[in-house]
Amino acid sequence: MSELRFDGKVAVITGSGHGLGRSHALSLAERGAKVVVNDLGGMLDGTGASAGPAADVVELIKKNGGEAVASTDNVATPEGAKAIVQAAIDAFGRLDIVVNNAGILRDRSFGKMSVEEFDQVLAVHVRGSFLVSREAFPYLKEQGYGRIINTSSPAGLFGSFGQANYSTAKMGLVGLTKTLGIEGARAGIKVNAIAPIAWTRMTESILPAEFEAKFTAEAVSSLVTFLAHESCEASGETFSVGAGRVARVFVAEGPGWSQDDHTVEDIRDNWEAIMAEQPYLSPIVLGQQAAASMKAML
Ligand SMILES: NC(=O)c1ccc[n+]([C@@H]2O[C@H](COP(=O)([O-])OP(=O)(O)OC[C@H]3O[C@@H](n4cnc5c(N)ncnc54)[C@H](O)[C@@H]3O)[C@@H](O)[C@H]2O)c1
Repeated sequence: MSELRFDGKVAVITGSGHGLGRSHALSLAERGAKVVVNDLGGMLDGTGASAGPAADVVELIKKNGGEAVASTDNVATPEGAKAIVQAAIDAFGRLDIVVNNAGILRDRSFGKMSVEEFDQVLAVHVRGSFLVSREAFPYLKEQGYGRIINTSSPAGLFGSFGQANYSTAKMGLVGLTKTLGIEGARAGIKVNAIAPIAWTRMTESILPAEFEAKFTAEAVSSLVTFLAHESCEASGETFSVGAGRVARVFVAEGPGWSQDDHTVEDIRDNWEAIMAEQPYLSPIVLGQQAAASMKAML
């Protein structure tokens, strides 16, 4: 079986000074990609900054025989995002792959969550992924090829107590992934999202201790590396990944119940049919869902 290589390809990986991003950077570099290791180097809640983590990963990649440059810019500002993409162009002359991975946590139960805690989390995850992708997009479009991988979370897909900000951000990335996948299609740009579980500084105080050995960052990076490869044709998809398991996650709609001129009581009386899951429809574009509603009324 031929090895999937990235020789001649250039990747930007945000938040790659620690955890999952670090592992993605090492994996891509090991397979020949030139890498921009971006990391603000702050704390888990996004406060502080340090050039250390990005520099350490660059040093490790170089020690392993790879090529990498460090960026300590902030994904959440337009200037930061521009500088991250520019670092790839300046150092390597092109850009092929963007892994939007940088993230922070500001967990708080909903009743106590401040506006700032909400905004800061959305700024890094959603705004950051938007801004970096936006800067990269013209380069990818121009060359008729590109790969973008966004980092969602089971917390967004399925909900998580104390994470209203984070869940909102992570489900927002599913929408960004779908629409960017549609808009990138003609230019050969494939956009996918992952919803990982891995033992990192972000999860070590939440996950049970026995997860450490199995839920490795490397088990997530194998999927990210495949999604970054030119042979991967998937786009607009989200994948659950952790501890060696990979699964497609899709948004589906049940068969539904329909009746012209229905009353509030009709809704109550047909609740079971409204809640039914089979046979489901999983539209790949907006129009398919609208068509299903139209068909039901004919
Ligand atoms: N570990 C998990 O189980 C898990 C689960 C679901 C989603 N995720 C997501 O995976 C991604 C990586 O998380 P991790 O677990 O490796 O945590 P981590 O804290 O080890 O890594 C996140 C990195 O992002 C960097 N970062 C934060 N804000 C930044 C900014 N504004 N600009 C640039 N860099 C910034 C941090 O310095 C850090 O190195 C995050 O988006 C996280 O939400 C992780």
